Formats: sequence, structure tokens, C-alpha cells
Amino acid sequence: MEGKLWGGRFKGKIDKNFERFSTSIRYDYKLAKFDIYHSMIHILALKEANILTSDEYERLNQALENILKDVEEGSFSYDHSSEDIHTDIQNKVNNIVGNLGDKLHTLRSRNDQVSFDEKWYCIEEIDQFIDILKDLVNVFKGLCRKFKREFFIAYTHTRRAQIITFKDYMDTFSRMFNSDKERLSSLRRREKVYIGSGAVAGTVLKDAYKKAIKIFTNKRGFNFIPIEVSSSPPFNVSNRDFIIEFLSCLAILQMHLSRLCEDLILYSTQEFNYFILPEEFCTGSSLMPHKKNPDFLELVRGYTGIVYGNLFSLLTTMKGLTLTYNRDMQLDKEPLFSSVEIVKEELKIMTEFIKRIELNKNTVEEALKDDSLYATELVQFLVFQGLAFKEAHKIIGKIVRYCEEKRVSLRDLSDEELKKFHVYLTVANLKKIMNPRYVVSLRK
Ligand code: ARG
Repeated sequence: MEGKLWGGRFKGKIDKNFERFSTSIRYDYKLAKFDIYHSMIHILALKEANILTSDEYERLNQALENILKDVEEGSFSYDHSSEDIHTDIQNKVNNIVGNLGDKLHTLRSRNDQVSFDEKWYCIEEIDQFIDILKDLVNVFKGLCRKFKREFFIAYTHTRRAQIITFKDYMDTFSRMFNSDKERLSSLRRREKVYIGSGAVAGTVLKDAYKKAIKIFTNKRGFNFIPIEVSSSPPFNVSNRDFIIEFLSCLAILQMHLSRLCEDLILYSTQEFNYFILPEEFCTGSSLMPHKKNPDFLELVRGYTGIVYGNLFSLLTTMKGLTLTYNRDMQLDKEPLFSSVEIVKEELKIMTEFIKRIELNKNTVEEALKDDSLYATELVQFLVFQGLAFKEAHKIIGKIVRYCEEKRVSLRDLSDEELKKFHVYLTVANLKKIMNPRYVVSLRK
């Protein structure tokens, strides 16, 4: 077990298959930057506590700076045989500074590193999501302005219901994504990055860590990241709620994306034809030359399974764990990275997609002629003439049925025919009411 961070008490060799099975480096390398930050704070604390001399500190810090530079420049590569990112960086430091590297891990635990790294990762990602969502919300607001005079058909039960403005339709999506942004902002406000939990019981370096955090954040301009010495080490090494909450926010956000996709897929079919989808996000068929398929929207809708699954995966992993840290928790990373990467990519593409969708005004205008869209307003008209709502509802219901059976439009009925249902129903009144501008203006 030589070379392992924990090898001392072991005599033989680790089973090769188990070793491979237990490693997380192939995915937790994504935490490299944050793990280096942890080490940078840690060695500052070790210097404060006189465990490292200034010279030793400088050499270790320089090694960490070099590795960080590789990460930032995208030239960082991990060693496939490393157990995890914490070990990988430790080994890299050893390669640079030799035996002095063995002092890096003084009095700390990977349990503390992993919770520090993941929290910081989440905070950084949440900030990105907030920015991307702001852009998307603005694109919807832009469409509200662009089509501010247009009307649209509101459906309930996927059946034509009433007329609304196109602005109100778009605003609904805008609000959904705005609520996602608010949810993430609230999580962001509540979360702090903790250091100094040790394996579970805290650290004797508490005061040193406090100073180290100050020096580190000032030096690097990281004042926007709240870093604190852990006030409850057992809680911090046990806790993955912040990841579960982040995954929940992403699951809700994904649900909103999926609903948006469903609307766009349905309303861009030949049958509805309300929207024309931007070609650059559609694909064709290798056999049928006429096809323009909404693959992007379908893939986003499809990814919902994975994004929901990621939340359930971690909830299930955590549900039976005794306090505090258990190795099961290593498996929190793949669901986290998966949801973050999928949803972020979707949002970026969706923002461009939405900018380019076209409203097919002709088909919308045609649909707006549908009598049934005005039925509720006709009831309302009779109510304002003094009829009881139930009575008015029944009268209009009967006319709708009459037209359906005779296969005529309400607009084609004569005053004679209308009178049979109610005297207030005249051709002139109907003409006035059955107009999108009029019905929408009534609600202002
Ligand atoms: N790779 C581990 C994880 O992600 C790091 C913590 C390991 N801690 C331990 N006690 N084995 O959870």
C-alpha cells in the first residue's frame, strides 16, 4: 500500500480490481482548482501555526501555483492511477518539491477537502446559472416586446380555451425561468464554503485557518466567496444537502425547459403551425427529404429523465447513511456534474434558439377566428346584461352545440336564429365581441 495517503497500517497489496473500482479520479479531476485552493489555505494555516517554515511554505505554495496554472490554462492532466483528485494533487506536489510534499497533508482529511471542493464548485456553477438564466429571461422579454401587438391562443387540457396576448404567453416562460433564477439565488445566499472539519472532529488549527482564510481571499480577490472555519465538523463532513438542493433546482429548471420544448414541438407541427423553428437547430431525415425535425427540443425533453434521475440517485445514495462521512458519498459527483453540464448546455443553446423562433402570424390569425375562443366572453356579455351566470353559461353552451350539429359558424347565424337563444344575442353584438382586440381589452 505504499504511496497511498493511508498506507501505513496495511501490510499487503490492494486488490487491483478493487483499486480500480474505488477510484474517482476519472470524474473528480473536475474539482482540481478548488482542491488547490484548499491546499493553499491549508499551508497558510500550517505556516501560521509554525508547522511550516516560511521557506517551506513558499516552496509548497509555488508548487501549488504551478499546478493551478496548468488547471487554468487547460493543460492539467491527471494520472489515471491516482485514487482521487486529492491524491493526484498531493502526488504532483511531491513530484515538484520532493519529500517536503509530505508535509502538505499535515492534520487534514480528504473528508474536509471534498466537502470544501464541492461546495465551492456548486457556488461557482450557481453563479454561472444565474447569469445564463438572466440572459434567457431577457430573450423572452425581447420577444414580448417584438410581438407586443400579437394575440395567441391559450390552451387548457390541450384544447383551445381563450385568447390571450402573445406577450402573456411568452411572459409565462419568462417567469418560470425567473423563478429558477430566484431559487438558485436563494441557495447561493445561504451557502458557505467550510474548511477545518478534519476527518470528522474538527481541527486544532482553527485560529490559524481563520487568519489563513483572510490572507488567501484578500490576496486572490475572492471576497465574493464566503469561506469560514467549520463550526460543526460532523455536520460538514456528513452534509450533501447543498448538492441535493442544487440538483432539485436543476430538476425544476429542467422541467420548465421540457415544457417549453413540448409547446414548441407541438405548435410547430404542420397541424398547428404557429411557430417556425430556426433551421440551424433542426435536422433532416436521411430518407424523407421534406423533413425538418425539432431534434434539439426533443433531446432537451429527453434529458429530463437523466436530470431527474441524478437527483434521485443522490437522494437514494444518502438515505441510509449513518453519520458522518461514508465512502458512498464519493458517488455524489457524477450526478452533480452530469446535471450541471447538461442543463447549462441546454440553457445556452435554448437562449439562441428562442431568439430565432418566428411566430407564424397567418396561422395564428386563422385560429383566432375560431368561435369557441369567444364562448366565455359571450357568457360574460350576458352576465353584464343581468343574466345569472349559470343561465348564461347554459345558453352559450346550447348555441355552441347547435352550431356544431349544423356545422356552421356562430358568425353565420342570423338575428332570427340567435333570438331563439336570447334576445341580447344579435349579429351586431356578436361581431363586436368576437374580436381578439376587444376581448383582450376587456381584461385591462
Ligand atoms: N474520493 C473521496 C470522496 O469523494 C474523498 C474522500 C475520501 N475519504 C475517505 N475517508 N476515504 O468522497
